[in-house]
Amino acid sequence: MAENSKPKSGGAPPASKATGDSVPARKALDGIRVLDMSHVQAGPSATQILAWLGADVIKVELPGRGDITRGQLRDVPNVDSLYFTMLNCNKRSITLNTKTSEGKEIFTRLVRHCDVLVENFAPGVLDRQGFTWEKIHEINPRIVYASIKGFGPGKFVDFKAYETVAQAMGGAMSTTGREDGPPTSTGAQIGDSGTGIHCVAAILAALIQREHTGRGQRVQVAMQDAVMNLCRVKFRDQQRLAHGPLREYPNKEFKDFVPRSGNASGGGQPGAALRCAPGGPNDYVYVIIQPHVWEPLAKLIGRPELVDDPAFATPEARLPHIDEVFGVVEEWTKGFTKFEVLDKLNEIDVPCGPILSTKDILEDGSLAGRMVVEVEHPERGTFKTIGCPLILSDSPVTVERSPLLGEHNEEILREIGYDINHLDELQSAGVL
Ligand SMILES: CC(C)(COP(=O)(O)OP(=O)(O)OC[C@H]1O[C@@H](n2cnc3c(N)ncnc32)[C@H](O)[C@@H]1OP(=O)(O)O)[C@@H](O)C(=O)NCCC(=O)NCCS
Repeated sequence: MAENSKPKSGGAPPASKATGDSVPARKALDGIRVLDMSHVQAGPSATQILAWLGADVIKVELPGRGDITRGQLRDVPNVDSLYFTMLNCNKRSITLNTKTSEGKEIFTRLVRHCDVLVENFAPGVLDRQGFTWEKIHEINPRIVYASIKGFGPGKFVDFKAYETVAQAMGGAMSTTGREDGPPTSTGAQIGDSGTGIHCVAAILAALIQREHTGRGQRVQVAMQDAVMNLCRVKFRDQQRLAHGPLREYPNKEFKDFVPRSGNASGGGQPGAALRCAPGGPNDYVYVIIQPHVWEPLAKLIGRPELVDDPAFATPEARLPHIDEVFGVVEEWTKGFTKFEVLDKLNEIDVPCGPILSTKDILEDGSLAGRMVVEVEHPERGTFKTIGCPLILSDSPVTVERSPLLGEHNEEILREIGYDINHLDELQSAGVL
């Protein structure tokens, strides 16, 4: 592995601090070069994690336009959108038209130069340009070639996909929402970023296997498959239905498929979102009633008689009328703010969570510098991004700003030994 030559561009303070006495100078993935052909969210979310872990991520973008998200949902005119800047930190950018013959030549050198290739184009895009897995493997037998697609082998394999398509076809939308409402998508990007995380796991496994075999391999992750994996408990419930209705669900009428679960916890412990003062759209706290917390909870809410009441005393007795049970608790929560409820319930060890709005979270000082990170950008000024959720004691993460389009063209071409004397010509020919 060659030494990582990625320049440091400053950025925010370390997002996570090591706890050991001394932190090794190297990051976990130092020396790993990633050729990032990815776009939009699914691929970029994966390569951003690899970059945070220390890989040198070279993002290849279409000349003139770049990743389409640079220009999507812009909040500031003519400046890279937050969609782009929040998914492409710690990377370098080179523009390259891989459909031109000179572009193909440069791309071939980049394939030779890198350890990992990641792409999430529509099915067949790189093949049509002559870069099949066989060709990539021939150019660099050690490369790990990772692809994200909407679907795995089967009848949908050639179809394009976006987040909500994957949620629709992976089991998430039919089981999300209120029982009397339409299928609903979740705000968590389980189809895109969820697939990205799966892809990272597969890439890291392939890199470790390469240590033993010396060979790279083909890695494929489908968005439908990743959503199915994240909906595993819903498929558990589908099979439980053969033995009768699911008592922990709010629905009373069951057909032969898992219904939308509303705010049911989905686990063995019942839970519900309960209203709090002063009654705004996010003034709720999610409360889970574990069996052993019922007694202290009943006492806290001023209903000690329910501890021994046969209709409330045990989990089995409470489950058939769980809405009524939570209604009793809600009579109490409505008298306090969600943060007061959080404190009071934690004093008696009841698992609970106030419903935090995106504003609450971005303004929560306790998350600042770690999960809410401020980054300086030369064109948009300071922006907030979500930090790295992985904490490695020997590989602390520093969040650095996303690159401008083609910011590292010259530097990267130099590194792969390309003649940089005619960059202007390449630019005017639309290669860069
Ligand atoms: C997301 C998606 C639906 C977008 O579809 P799209 O806008 O049509 O984009 P494509 O991936 O098909 O790429 C469009 C074209 O840009 C071209 N292109 C992109 N970067 C290029 C570059 N650097 N040089 C030359 N051409 C480039 C591609 O070659 C392709 O051209 P072709 O269709 O003539 O072969 C599709 O990429 C997809 O289904 N990806 C897999 C699933 C996925 O990741 N979805 C979630 C994204 S968050």
